[in-house]
Amino acid sequence: MARQAREQNRIIGLAPTMGALHEGHASLIARAKRECSPVIASIFVNPKQFGPNEDFAKYPSAFESDTEKLKQAGVDALFAPEAAEIYPRDFSTYVHVEGLSERLEGRSRPGHFRGVTTIVMKLLQIVQPHRAYFGRKDAQQARLIELMVRDLNLDAEIAVCPIVRDPDGLALSSRNVYLNGEERKAATVLFRALQAVKKELEAGSRDALHLQATLRRKLESERLAAIDYAEIVDAESFEPVTRVAKACYVLLAVFIGKTRLIDNLYLEPKSPGSDHLAFHL
Ligand code: PAF
Repeated sequence: MARQAREQNRIIGLAPTMGALHEGHASLIARAKRECSPVIASIFVNPKQFGPNEDFAKYPSAFESDTEKLKQAGVDALFAPEAAEIYPRDFSTYVHVEGLSERLEGRSRPGHFRGVTTIVMKLLQIVQPHRAYFGRKDAQQARLIELMVRDLNLDAEIAVCPIVRDPDGLALSSRNVYLNGEERKAATVLFRALQAVKKELEAGSRDALHLQATLRRKLESERLAAIDYAEIVDAESFEPVTRVAKACYVLLAVFIGKTRLIDNLYLEPKSPGSDHLAFHL
């Protein structure tokens, strides 16, 4: 399908997923539908991006309802390979983006990003899309994929789409199903902490240490929350900043009970050099 579409000068869009689809995935597909035809979705729970003590074995799966959702969303084709097709027994070639892969998520989940960049590289090679769509909730993942595409001269554009949230602010994630009732309520603390920082930024505060203290105080007020990291970083390098002066992420990884959740607030000056910030929460 992709070869034929390329020959006909059509723009091919890819929405890579690990299934257990929710409205966040639907938003990637909706944007891809506005910009591309055909739109291809992939479902593949990639074993190489899970650590030995992570949730690969119990990762939520809903293949039948996923395929129905994709049909309803007007996806033209689904690529859902078996693990053995993607990783033959003697598979030994990986894509690794040095430096950024080791920070933040990478520090907490060694090997995770090597697995992500390797599978995304393979999906881009197999599907040959012009454009591939990723969610901003996984901000570091999206940045790594942009770097990989640039560094390896891949012929694909990376589109990063806004976070989709439940009405109470919890960012949608396939892993939210792990939360019990009490934990689900507690999990809104990530959004509340990001909102508290946004409020201080709106009032003119730009000192990263001060903002980080607000973030941690808010998170620590929730009994079920344990912070993995809560940092303010440059949006390109993901290195910590001391002042919010250019595009930055406020990044969170927090355990609620045994479930590890991530979330972020993306900030950028409204115009180059301006002190007025646009907030993407
Ligand atoms: O974000 C995800 O769902 C996965 O990391 C991805 C990009 C589909 C690669 O397995």
